[in-house]
Amino acid sequence: MNHAKTTSQRFSVELPVYQANLGCAILDGSGFPDNYYFQDLGLKHTSFCQSAICYIDGAQGTLLYRGYPVESLCRQYTYESIIYLLLFGELPSKRVLTTFTRKLHADMSVPDYCYQLLETLPHDHHPMGILLTLVSALSADDTQLLDDPDDMAIRIIAQMPLLVAMSQRHAKGLPPVRIAKPTEYVEDFLIYLQDQRPSTLAHQVFDRILTLHAEHEQNASTCTLRVSGSTGTNAYAALAAALTALWGPAHGGANEACMAMLEAIGTCDRIPEYIEKAKSKTDPFRLMGFGHRVYRNRDPRADVMKSLARDVLDHKQDEPLFRLARSLEKRALEDPYFISHQLYPNVDYYSGIVQRALGIDCQSFTTVFALARTSGWMSHWLEMQRDRTPIIRPRQHYIGPRQRDL
Ligand code: SDX
Repeated sequence: MNHAKTTSQRFSVELPVYQANLGCAILDGSGFPDNYYFQDLGLKHTSFCQSAICYIDGAQGTLLYRGYPVESLCRQYTYESIIYLLLFGELPSKRVLTTFTRKLHADMSVPDYCYQLLETLPHDHHPMGILLTLVSALSADDTQLLDDPDDMAIRIIAQMPLLVAMSQRHAKGLPPVRIAKPTEYVEDFLIYLQDQRPSTLAHQVFDRILTLHAEHEQNASTCTLRVSGSTGTNAYAALAAALTALWGPAHGGANEACMAMLEAIGTCDRIPEYIEKAKSKTDPFRLMGFGHRVYRNRDPRADVMKSLARDVLDHKQDEPLFRLARSLEKRALEDPYFISHQLYPNVDYYSGIVQRALGIDCQSFTTVFALARTSGWMSHWLEMQRDRTPIIRPRQHYIGPRQRDL
């Protein structure tokens, strides 16, 4: 519905260019003439903040958390160390990690009204909506707000395993699980969720799933959190805003949508039909778990997730959905459309298969993504407190009617 008439008029302006520590050169638009707006629909080419937390090279398929490749971090560090790295910029020593996790575990609780509120919600509500309700309730409670931003970020990260498990269990008609003294973030999340101690394999795989999903620079939900946080709203309210953005099937809801797609395809002989649907300009169907705004090469997380699927399925290569996913991936990667559009599996493509094998039901996948991404979101919120980020208020390209009289 773009009424604007594009003209062939050319415009040139001299602006300073900075070379970023890594990646693209930055054109500094602060000196842009007031009577011109730079339009970049979808902000594909726009840097709207400075951040030291995460770096993505979409052409190379590189993802760094505070400079470290995520694949290496996954193999060598637990998610508790990754939380500390994202929040404070360095990997913790054993001593520092002990002090940090003592504080984290001590904050793994929520006020009684969260349990009471949960009881008032129908069991057929979506877990993401239930989670959003609980976080919104906490945003209204001044007694939960801490003056120290570090403590506030840690408290929210600490509360999320319980909030996510409560949301998932309530959506299945199950009561919350209580743990007298939490002792390990990921293991306790799985106990809150499944009311039993996880196997060593489940604990290890889940720890890596959370690391892989923890942080991804200015994705839609992190960008939303920054816009919301820039108004000075409290951290729970900014978290609620991020949750609403993550829920969408084009973003964090893709793992749930991908499993639904694989189950709809059902058997390998129907793959060609769905590949054609995905390529059709008249069919809104897209291959869920494929494509990415930034990665024009493989998403490094997808490869790790695929190997986790093998581990959890105990190398059961014949598990129907895993076999179908691998065949679909192979066919898509050989197809000229996917090759020319640079479409590869993203983090969501195999994550549903892994989570289902760990007993997480499909409707809850996005809440697991939210659990993991809370450490990334709170790292950005903390960075904003330190940088005193001004309110984020872009302009627009007006395409409405000219001024007219009533
Ligand atoms: C996540 O941003 C992040 O970092 C997100 C994330 C994170 O960690 O936070 O990485 C997590 O959200 C991963 C993405 C999960 N979403 C999906 O898997 C949903 C399916 N993917 C698409 O909806 C799409 O690829 C997006 C939304 C992910 C990216 O879309 P873009 O970059 O805006 O690309 P586009 O929509 O402009 O499409 C460009 C072309 C189009 O074709 P043309 O009209 O140019 O011919 O590529 C086509 C699209 O039709 N295309 C696809 C496709 N994705 C893009 N065609 C078929 N299947 C797809 N999946």
